Amino acid sequence: MIFNHFRLNNGIRLYFFSFSTPSIPHKSTIFARMIYYFSGTGNSKYVAELLALQLNQPLSDMTASDCPSAPSDGCESLGLVFPVYAWGTPSIVDQFIHSLRGCKAQYVWAVMTCGDDMGFTDHILAKALKRECGLTLHAAWSVQMPNTYVCLPGFDVDSPEVAERKVKQTIARIPAIAQHILNHEHTTDVHRGAMPYTKSYVLRPLFNATLVTDKYFHISDDCIRCGLCAKNCPLHNITDDLQWKGNCAGCLRCYHACPKRAIRFGQFTESKGQKNHILRHTANQHSH
Ligand SMILES: Cc1cc2nc3c(=O)[nH]c(=O)nc-3n(C[C@H](O)[C@H](O)[C@H](O)COP(=O)(O)O)c2cc1C
Ligand code: SF4
Ligand code: SF4
Repeated sequence: MIFNHFRLNNGIRLYFFSFSTPSIPHKSTIFARMIYYFSGTGNSKYVAELLALQLNQPLSDMTASDCPSAPSDGCESLGLVFPVYAWGTPSIVDQFIHSLRGCKAQYVWAVMTCGDDMGFTDHILAKALKRECGLTLHAAWSVQMPNTYVCLPGFDVDSPEVAERKVKQTIARIPAIAQHILNHEHTTDVHRGAMPYTKSYVLRPLFNATLVTDKYFHISDDCIRCGLCAKNCPLHNITDDLQWKGNCAGCLRCYHACPKRAIRFGQFTESKGQKNHILRHTANQHSH
């Protein structure tokens, strides 16, 4: 039995007995909820911000120099938001997962943005989480956002109408996704598309080996040397005199951020579009 008191505003003390021991917060009971995002051109950042608002949870950019590390103890919920690259995880996300080693999250969820379909990205993520840090992926969603991939024939940005429709549909899904996350539900709600196995396990390795590179970038005479491409690169892979340094994640932020459409990737991007809908400005915000 414990003898306790508390003081009223007028200074009078009220005394009472309690039969329970006072709870002294132990490090392991201080639960944390974390959301980490990576975004090449702003789509995933936008989705992550909507989720963070709904969930009232802190949000950190995986590529920020001051990105806090995940707690090794007492992490109640760990969320990852990122774009699908070649029906799998971007290399920046792979590296971030490596840095999660030691994190003991009770509930792990992921929301993956894609222009169309994501193949087995959730399986690739789940395997990496298990292999690198022993974590289980409990819930996964894919949401469609405007396409940003333009480097191969047949791939281009969406028309403003299609882009807007995708954004609206995704915004409408956020409250339900957030509620599932708050309930710690185990669920998979993803759009795999046609031939997901071939895409994720045959085409993806080929894509990563040959097309995730900066050696095909070049700049046209339209360049005004504004430096936005260099300032925006999440890996600081572009020098002030506009040389690519060989450490590229293939996110195309430099391409989409260029105000003069002066950045080209190989032969096929000259007539391609840039992100031109309401989220386009977010690509430039990364420089602030
Ligand atoms: C290198 C690269 C690969 C992509 N691969 C896919 C893909 O496999 N499936 C898909 O539906 N969208 C793909 N996309 C489109 C993006 O996943 C989609 O536009 C995403 O919302 C971009 O998010 P961000 O703005 O946060 O970078 C790819 C984009 C890039 C740059
Ligand atoms: S060089 Fe361009 S495509 Fe490569 S990581 Fe930097 S911004 Fe992304
Ligand atoms: S963003 Fe475009 S215009 Fe600006 S420096 Fe880079 S290539 Fe040149």
